Amino acid sequence: DMGGHDTFMHKEISEQPDAVDRVLRGRIDDRFSTVHLGGLNLDPREARTIRRIKILGCGTSYHAGLIGAGLIESMARIPADAEPASEFRYRNPVVDPDTLYIAVSQSGETYDVLAAVQELKRKGARVLGVVNVVGSAIAREADGGVYVHAGPEVCVVSTKCFTNTVTAFALLALHLGRIRDLSVTDGKRIIEGLRKLPAQIQEILETEDEIKKIAAEYAGAQSMMFIGRVRGYPVALEASLKLKEISYIHAEAYPASELKHGPLALIEPALPTVAIVPDDDLLEKNRAALEEIKARSGRILAVAHQEQAKADHTIIVPKNEDELDPILMGIPLQLLAYHTALAMGRDIDKPRNLAKSVTVE
Ligand code: F6R
Repeated sequence: DMGGHDTFMHKEISEQPDAVDRVLRGRIDDRFSTVHLGGLNLDPREARTIRRIKILGCGTSYHAGLIGAGLIESMARIPADAEPASEFRYRNPVVDPDTLYIAVSQSGETYDVLAAVQELKRKGARVLGVVNVVGSAIAREADGGVYVHAGPEVCVVSTKCFTNTVTAFALLALHLGRIRDLSVTDGKRIIEGLRKLPAQIQEILETEDEIKKIAAEYAGAQSMMFIGRVRGYPVALEASLKLKEISYIHAEAYPASELKHGPLALIEPALPTVAIVPDDDLLEKNRAALEEIKARSGRILAVAHQEQAKADHTIIVPKNEDELDPILMGIPLQLLAYHTALAMGRDIDKPRNLAKSVTVE
């Protein structure tokens, strides 16, 4: 049942305020400015001994893991990174007893992720799951974890589950941070930010008409470039994947800082750039990248907290805490991909060549 929407993708994008509310519900502890994660199965003493965190997933879940790694590093100060599960599995990685492994999956059935989890467990590693489907294979194999509570996702491409997975990582990062070095004040600041998310997502959804107009201008593009830095880079990766999957427009994502090391050669009026430009300590750096693009007559769509003079269009999103901004900045770009694909007459809920869950290698 599409509940009055034309596609499941549109329905699922629209459900995000409620979905995020669900992942937060019952988990916030105001007394200690932390969160409780019932199924984590990791006592505080163990949590203090973790030296490293390695996050594994595929596709959109891998991108959510990249943002998750950034959240964990900044809040819990534990070195963390994310890697595609399939790559990890085939490079004979060093499995280290002081590393906590986290498998990320909407379906909980993706073969590459499941196989990585099984290999890790065979080697005695501790593996947690950040999973949407309750009781799925990955959830069962993991030693514990965090359910994402996005609800059923029907559209082949993931939207609400991405947002909820990143929010679940914010909860995990806050939890680990408050066991380690994150102050009460910072814990409170993050909790206030988390509580603002559903209403801020709603605010972004209300700009859909404006995003639709912008999408109409990009619908004919051959190729698009997505750029961001640090927290913004995984947002660019995910927005670029979403656009390719449903519109079949070729898209690339680069860290904005890498432009001058090669991809700037591609910039010309026919190759539009979507830039993630949050109001944080990298604002001036991001603005410099916009100038470089404008100097080559590139068209620019900025997703930002304030109007960007160098951009042809700016989609303004509400500001949250710096750490949580990536959650919000991804949302207008789901709508951009959606309306671009719609204008091109694509089969949005069932893109060619793709399946909802990839249970084979
Ligand atoms: C992207 C998409 C895929 C999945 C990937 C992992 O929109 O749907 O890239 O994210 O196949 O699937 P899960 O999360 O079920 O492991």
